Amino acid sequence: MSSPDDTSTHVPPHTPSQTENSATTTSVTTTAKMSSKTSVTEKYAFDTLQLHAGQESSDKTSNARAVPIYATSSYTFDSADHAEALFSGEVTGNQYGRMHNPTVDAFVKRLVALEQGIAGVALSSGQAATTVTLLSLVTPGSHVILSNQLFGGTYSVINKILAPWGVEVSTVSPTASAIAEVMQDNTAAVWCETIANPSCSVPDIAAIAEVCAGNVPLVVDNTWGCGGYLCQPLTLGANIVVHSATKWIGGHGAFIGGAVIDGGNFDWTAGKFPAFTKPTNKGWSYVDKAGAAAFNLRAYDLGLFTMGMTLSPYAASLGLQGLETLSLRVQRACDSALALAQWLEQHPKIARVDYPGLVSSSCHEVATRTLNNGFGAVLSFEAVDTQTARTFLDSVQLASHLANIGDAKTVVINPWTTTHASLSAAAKAEAGVSEALVRVSVGLEAVPDLQRDFDQALYG
Ligand SMILES: Cc1ncc(COP(=O)(O)O)c(C=O)c1O
Repeated sequence: MSSPDDTSTHVPPHTPSQTENSATTTSVTTTAKMSSKTSVTEKYAFDTLQLHAGQESSDKTSNARAVPIYATSSYTFDSADHAEALFSGEVTGNQYGRMHNPTVDAFVKRLVALEQGIAGVALSSGQAATTVTLLSLVTPGSHVILSNQLFGGTYSVINKILAPWGVEVSTVSPTASAIAEVMQDNTAAVWCETIANPSCSVPDIAAIAEVCAGNVPLVVDNTWGCGGYLCQPLTLGANIVVHSATKWIGGHGAFIGGAVIDGGNFDWTAGKFPAFTKPTNKGWSYVDKAGAAAFNLRAYDLGLFTMGMTLSPYAASLGLQGLETLSLRVQRACDSALALAQWLEQHPKIARVDYPGLVSSSCHEVATRTLNNGFGAVLSFEAVDTQTARTFLDSVQLASHLANIGDAKTVVINPWTTTHASLSAAAKAEAGVSEALVRVSVGLEAVPDLQRDFDQALYG
C-alpha cells in the first residue's frame, strides 16, 4: 500500500480541510474552531451534545436512530477515478477499516465536541492513546516532564519504550513552579492528570498551562475529568487531551477504548517540532495538510495507519451508548462520592480520607477552580491499619474488588499491592500510596446501601 509518508491516503474524514485553514497556525486555530463549533458546540449544552454530536440526523440509508455499527473492514470505490482521488488525497472518504469507520468517527466527533477540541483520534485503549500522543511529540533527544502522580502505564511508555530510544524525563510534583524549574529547551511535552490516582489531588491546570505558554504542549490525561463533564482542560489552556474511554465514558465496565483530542491551540511551526513541518515525499507536511489540527493528523497517521491501534466499531458503539448518559451518571457518582467521603471521615476505622470535595482537602481550593459540576467519582481512604484495609477488601459484598474505575458499579482496590505495586517505596510515598490505602470508584448504587456494606466490611 502506501509508504508511511503517504498521509494523504488516510486523512481522517473530520480533519479540518485546507480551505478552512490558512497558512499560519494562529489564524488556523480560530478558523478551524469557528467552523467546527458553530454547528454543534456553540449551539448546544453538554447534556445535548453527549446525545447528538457526531450524529446530527438519523442514518441516511436506513433511518436508524442509533449510530449503526459499521462492521466492515473495507469500502468500495465509486470508480477508478474515485479510488485514485482517495489515494492521492484529492478527496477524503472511507478507504480501509484500520483508519476509517463511521461508527468510530461518530464516537470521536462526540468526544471532540464534549472536550471543546477541534479534532480527535479514537484508539484501541487509553494506553494506546498515551503511547501515540508521546510518540507523536518526542524524538530521540527530547525531554518530557511528567507529574509524579500518574497512572503507572504512562511511566511504562516512557521507561520501556522512549527512554531506551534517548528520551529524557523529569518527574516532578504537578505544580507550575516545579515544572518551570525543570523546563529545558528540548522539552517536548508536559504531562499531568486532571485528578491524580489514587491521591485524588487536583493540579492547577490553568497555572501549569501558563508556564507552558505556547512553548511546550501541555497534555492532560482527562480520564478522571469524565469526558469533559468535570473538566475541559483545553479551555484552561492545555493543548492535548488524552482519555481512557474504558472508564466513565463507557461507564459500564464493558469495553476498552481510548481517544486523543487536539485543542488546535499550539503553534507547531515555531521550530521545535520539525516532524510537523517537514514535507513528506508528496511535498506537504502535517501542518500544510491539517493546519491547526496538525497534531491530530500526526497522531492519526502514527496511531492508526502506522501502528494499527484501531478502536473497533463494536467498542465505539458501546462508547456512544455510554456517552448518552455521561453527565447523569457522573453527577450521581460525584454526589455519592462526596456523601461517602464525608461519612468515612467520621468513621472510627478510618484514619484519613482523600477527596477534593472535602473542605479538609489540601487541594479543595484548586479543585473548586479547576473542576465543574462535582469533585470526581473516586475517593481514597486510609484505614486505621493495614489489616483493617485487607479485611475490608475481603469482606465487601456490594462493592466489587477489582482493578478498574468508572464502572456503574462501585469498585475498590488496595493500590499498594496492585496498581502501584511496581513503584519504589519512595515513589509510592510521593503518590500518596500507603499500605492501608483503599481506592474507591463510586458507582450508582444508593448511598445508604454502600454505607452499610462499607461499615460491615470495615469490621470484617
Ligand atoms: C488515568 C488513566 N489513564 C490511562 C489509563 C489506561 O487506559 P486503558 O486501561 O483504557 O488502556 C488508565 C487505566 O486505568 C488510567 O486510569
